[in-house]
Amino acid sequence: MAGPEKLSAKLTLPGGKEASLPVVVGTEDEHAVDIRALRNETGYITLDTGYMNTGSTTSSITYLDGEQGILRYRGYSIEELAEHSDFVEVSYLLINGKLPTKAERASFSTALTRHSLIHEDMHQFFAGFPPTSHPMAILSAMVTSLSAYYPDSLDRNSSVDLHITRILSKVRTIAAFSYKKSIGQPLIYPKNSLKYCANFLHMMFAVPSEDYDVSPVLEKALNQLLILHADHEQNCSTSTVRMVGSSGANLYAAIAGGILALWGPLHGGANQAVIEMLEEIRASGGDSKKFVEDVKNKRDNRRLMGFGHRVYKNYDPRAKILKKMCDEVLAHLGIKDPLLDIAKSMEEIALKDDYFISKKLYPNVDFYSGIIYRAMGIPTNMFTVMFALGRLPGWIAHWKEMVEDKDTKIGRPRQIYTGEKLRKYVPIDNR
Ligand code: CMC
Repeated sequence: MAGPEKLSAKLTLPGGKEASLPVVVGTEDEHAVDIRALRNETGYITLDTGYMNTGSTTSSITYLDGEQGILRYRGYSIEELAEHSDFVEVSYLLINGKLPTKAERASFSTALTRHSLIHEDMHQFFAGFPPTSHPMAILSAMVTSLSAYYPDSLDRNSSVDLHITRILSKVRTIAAFSYKKSIGQPLIYPKNSLKYCANFLHMMFAVPSEDYDVSPVLEKALNQLLILHADHEQNCSTSTVRMVGSSGANLYAAIAGGILALWGPLHGGANQAVIEMLEEIRASGGDSKKFVEDVKNKRDNRRLMGFGHRVYKNYDPRAKILKKMCDEVLAHLGIKDPLLDIAKSMEEIALKDDYFISKKLYPNVDFYSGIIYRAMGIPTNMFTVMFALGRLPGWIAHWKEMVEDKDTKIGRPRQIYTGEKLRKYVPIDNR
């Protein structure tokens, strides 16, 4: 029987030399030219600063069509998952490639509950950080420290499933503990009777002297927020996780690398930056139009934070869901946040403005998420930690896919050198 047609591309190089390169086709008919043999055959490399158009891997985890505004995890649409699933089920799906059966779901949940505590000795670390510490600094340091408490993670043959469960469960505890420490309150331990998101809200907002009932609306909202952040294929932090992991570094080290990459304001740090931007506009009289003009004129290199995306050239499907959710959660809590009005007016101005239209800049996942977190009582400097908590299953899934792929090689890009040619060393007295 004839196999699928093998496609190839021809590249003509200066001097007329030709290279024939295989073409790889994905399940959604995405096409790539496989250039791996190019250097050996021709001496040429490809140059693509910021990896604007470079596929670093094949992957079966997430499908994203930025032109159409489509996002799917393992083939399921983000809209359906956000509506009907919960974060634990989506984590299982991303990591294992399929939705769990009832029995699989129960044993996954039990394992997450069982591993929710962190070693008591680790509590001292929280005390060692100055009160001004950004929670992302604490989170990344604590995740790296987990590898010290589970040294078997350094053994590449140790149980991957156990480390995955540990990290998924403990990052939630670490995130909540770092908040409690930052406000000087006693740590609230996880409660085994609560589900993943409810348990997080309990650790964040309960105090020892009072009962705390988790609001089902907030629990649902948190599940949805985390689902929407759970994976986004080869973004900056996920690529970092893969890059760190490709050297053989353990899961905790790779995830800590991802957390640090996420921190920047162009990536996960944008949710904090959006609220800071909206606060600034409010403090200066709420003139959204003037701010947008400053952005267009690139005054002080300003950007409209929460707008634009490397891959989406259409409305980010996550932002669509979040905008609706923002109205629902605020209405339920009876909150009228002036920042939401400013955000909506900025969106309206931007979406009609030629600068944003021509550059295809639309609201992204970070534009409305911060307003929801704020309404839930989560402080601004914790927003990127919330993003990290959500992105965790995606990072884990990519790390796992990478270590299980027998074709994985250490990540090691090339470069074009533009420095000095060979020159003679001049002793210091003669310079
Ligand atoms: N406001 C104003 N102008 C913008 C913006 C923005 N938010 N984003 C891009 N541009 C302009 C940019 O100035 C450039 O203009 P010109 O061609 O005149 O120089 C053009 O659009 C292309 O921008 P770029 O920086 O080359 O595009 P990129 O694909 O490298 O950057 C981005 C993508 C997300 C870093 C960028 O859109 C940005 O900085 N957005 C604001 C930060 C933000 O919201 N980040 C969260 C991204 S979504 C969550 C996540 O996955 O992390």
